[in-house]
Amino acid sequence: MAIVTAQRLVTIERHIAEQEHLHPHATGEFSRLLRDLLLAIRLIAREVSRAGLTDILGLTGTTNIYGEAVRKLDSYANEVIIRAMEPGGHLCAMASEESAGPIILPPERRGKYILLFDPLDGSTNIDVNVTIGTIFSIYRRPVEDTSREPSIEELLQPGCRQVAAGYVCYGSSITLVYSTGRGVDVFTYDPTLGEFFLTVEQLRIPRRGKQYSINEGNALRWDPRLQQYIQYLKTPSGDGSRPYALRYIGTAVADVHRVLHYGGIFMYPADSANPNGKLRLLYEANPLAYLVEQAGGRASDGTRPILSIQPHSLDQRVPLFLGSPEDVAEAEAFLRGEHPWQRSAAATAL
Ligand code: AHG
Ligand code: MN
Ligand code: MN
Repeated sequence: MAIVTAQRLVTIERHIAEQEHLHPHATGEFSRLLRDLLLAIRLIAREVSRAGLTDILGLTGTTNIYGEAVRKLDSYANEVIIRAMEPGGHLCAMASEESAGPIILPPERRGKYILLFDPLDGSTNIDVNVTIGTIFSIYRRPVEDTSREPSIEELLQPGCRQVAAGYVCYGSSITLVYSTGRGVDVFTYDPTLGEFFLTVEQLRIPRRGKQYSINEGNALRWDPRLQQYIQYLKTPSGDGSRPYALRYIGTAVADVHRVLHYGGIFMYPADSANPNGKLRLLYEANPLAYLVEQAGGRASDGTRPILSIQPHSLDQRVPLFLGSPEDVAEAEAFLRGEHPWQRSAAATAL
C-alpha cells in the first residue's frame, strides 16, 4: 500500500484527469459525472460538519420505504445528490435508498450512466457525532439510446458490471475512497481549500486481520454455524492469532473503512428475524464489495460472491461478509460446516 503524503498535491480532479488517459474508453463525460458528484459530497460534508449549529439534526417525522425513520440529514443528502446530478446530462437514471422509486432523466438531459446511492449511511449515528457516510455505485447503461426511457432492468445489473464505486467517511477527517476498476485510491478533504488530496494510492487490504465487526446483539438469532465461527474468533489460540478484537460502529462505511486498512472481517448476516440480513444489495453491499475486491479482499453473502448476484428489486437486502480474503474464506467454511474446529470439543460445547 503506497502511502502518499498530500505534499504531492494530487487533487482528485487531477487524478481523474490522469485516469482518463489510462482508461481505453474513458471519456470526459465520466470525469464530469464524478465532478458533479464531488460537488454534492462537498455540500453534504459542510452540513455534516456544522450539524447541530443548523436545524439539520433530528427526525423529519417521516419513514422511508423500509419503514425506517428518516432524519433531516438523510433527506438533505438525498436531495443534494439528485439536484447536483440532474443538470449534467451524464445519467439516464438514478436510484437512492431514500427515494421510493428510480429517478428517470428526461431525453434532453439523458446520458449513458446510472447512479445508485445511499446518501447517508449510518443515520442512527448522525445525532451523536459518530462517523457517517455516503455510498455510490455507477453503471453504464447496457444499450445507449437517449430516445428510450431506461427500464428498471437496466438498473438491476449485477455488481460485477459497476464501472466505479466509492464512499465518503464523514469522520475525524473527511475521506473519499473510490475505484474505477484500477485499484482503490483514498483522498482526504481539506475543507479550508475545498479540495480532496490523494493520500493513499492503490490501497491493499491485509490478507488476514485480527478484528471482527458484527452486531453481537443479534447473536441468539444467528445460524448455529455462524455462532461457532464467532466463538472460534473469541477462543485463544496457541499461536496468538486469536482472540480477535470486536470493533463495531454501526455505520457500514466506517466499519468497512477500518477493515480495508487493518484487515479482518465485517459481517451483517441473515438471522431468524431478517432472512436476508439488513444491508441493501444495490446501495450498500455492491459498492462496498466492489471496493473491497479492488483492494484484494473478498465479499460474499456467505456462499456466493456479492458481485455475482443478479438483483431482482431495487430495495432487496442481502447478507454480507466482506474483508480480508483469508478471514472471509474461513467464515464461509464455517457456514458450510466444513471447518476442522467445528468438530472440536470447544465447538460442540456451544
Ligand atoms: P443506513 O443509515 O443507510 O440505513 O445504514 C445503516 C446500516 C449500516 O450503515 C450499518 O452497518 C447497519 O445499518 C447497522 O445496523 P444495526 O444497527 O442493526 O447493527
Ligand atoms: Mn446505509
Ligand atoms: Mn442511508
